[in-house]
This record gives sequence, structure tokens and C-alpha cells, in this order.
Amino acid sequence: MTEGFNIQRDEKTDSRHNLTWHMMEINRQKREKQMQQKAFTIWMSGLSGAGKSTIANALEKRLYAMGKKTMLLDGDNVRMGLNSNLGFSDEDRVENIRRIAEVAKLMNDAGLIVITAFISPYRHDRENAKQIIGDGFREVYVSTSIEECEKRDVKGLYKAAREGKIAQFTGITSPYEIPEHADVVVDTAEMDVETCVNHILEQLKSLLRESV
Ligand SMILES: Nc1ncnc2c1ncn2[C@@H]1O[C@H](COP(=O)(O)OP(=O)(O)OP(=O)(O)O)[C@@H](O)[C@H]1O
Ligand SMILES: [Mg+2]
Repeated sequence: MTEGFNIQRDEKTDSRHNLTWHMMEINRQKREKQMQQKAFTIWMSGLSGAGKSTIANALEKRLYAMGKKTMLLDGDNVRMGLNSNLGFSDEDRVENIRRIAEVAKLMNDAGLIVITAFISPYRHDRENAKQIIGDGFREVYVSTSIEECEKRDVKGLYKAAREGKIAQFTGITSPYEIPEHADVVVDTAEMDVETCVNHILEQLKSLLRESV
């Protein structure tokens, strides 16, 4: 785990490493004002195949059409770039989520509305993401059951995991800890993509309307 893991962003110094936070004049509030939107992060969590990427994509299209400035951080895409040096061990999963949260926070500071789509199976990691991102963190639990996800098996990963070809596969050989206080819950076995997106937008409408 990275040293200095839990350093809060409002601390102005990190004496262990002789670091001092430099306050810049063009800050988040100014960028939000220029972009005419409140920046925040929609953190989507759920099993592989639950529908995170599909919903995130549809949600971003809707926000884009509303004139919102957005960015989507998606599991496999980030693992093929920024986090290409990380695997799926417990330690690497923690670091994967920590980096994503830091990037989401930077993008929020840039004034953007961020959507993330990562399995993020551990409660502790999501809590840590919330700590890093701060007030603008909103958790969306894509609650599609393991049975439904395995039936879909979009990437053929469940079959491979059942055959023992993938170690530590979430829901099969590695736990998924259900979010207990998600801001929004969508089950894609019961709701189509559009209904899921409408539900998320409805639940987040006060943030989307907030004047800056
Ligand atoms: N209501 C729905 N919302 C989202 N996806 C749905 C819905 N109904 C069916 N699906 C299908 O479920 C699959 C979801 O796959 P998707 O790649 O979005 O999952 P994921 O949660 O991003 O998985 P991973 O963690 O492996 O990236 C897609 O094939 C999609 O078409
Ligand atoms: Mg995905």
C-alpha cells in the first residue's frame, strides 16, 4: 500500500514527507462557476456483468445531451492504461480503487461530473473513495444478482472462473460486499437501461440543478 495513504486533502502539510499543499487561485469553485455546474462523482458498483458500463454509457449520453461536462472512468479501460501495472490481488484492488478515486477527485476539481464504473467489491475501498472524493460522492449500487450476471456472462469470465481459470473472481471465489447505504439502487434484471438511467437522474436531480 502507498505510504501516506490517508492524508486528507484539506491538510496543508505532510510533515513526514516535507510536503506543503500549494493553494492555487483558480480553484474548483471558480471552474464550476465557469462551467455552470456542480461537480460530483457518481460511483457505480456491482458484480461483473451487472450493467455498470452499459448504464454509465447511457447516463453520460443523457448528461451530455443536457449540456453537462462529464467524464466516464470505466473498469477495463482504466486497467488498460493508468492501472496497467495492477493485478487482482487484494493489495492491487485497493490500489486500483484508490487511484481511481484520486483521478475522480482531480476531475471534480476540474469542474467535471464524473461517472465511475468499477466492480469495487470491498466496502472499505468504497469508504476510502468517499473519503478521497468528499461531499460530492454518490454511490449507485447496480444490484443485479449473481445468477443473472452469470447467465449473461458477457465476457465469458464466469465460465472461466467456474473452471478455475481465473483466481479471485468476484462473486465466485472472492467476495462482493453489498453497499449498505447506497444513494441509488438499480436492478437491471427488473429495469431496462432507460429506466435505470431515469431513476439515477431523478435521485440526483438536486445536485444536477444546484446553482454555482
Ligand atoms: N437494464 C440493463 N442495464 C444494463 N445492462 C443490461 C440491462 N439489461 C441487460 N443488460 C445487459 O447486461 C450486460 C451488462 O454488461 P456490462 O458490461 O454493462 O456490465 P459491467 O457491470 O460493466 O461488467 P464488468 O464489471 O465486467 O465490466 C450487457 O450485455 C447489457 O446489454
Ligand atoms: Mg464494465
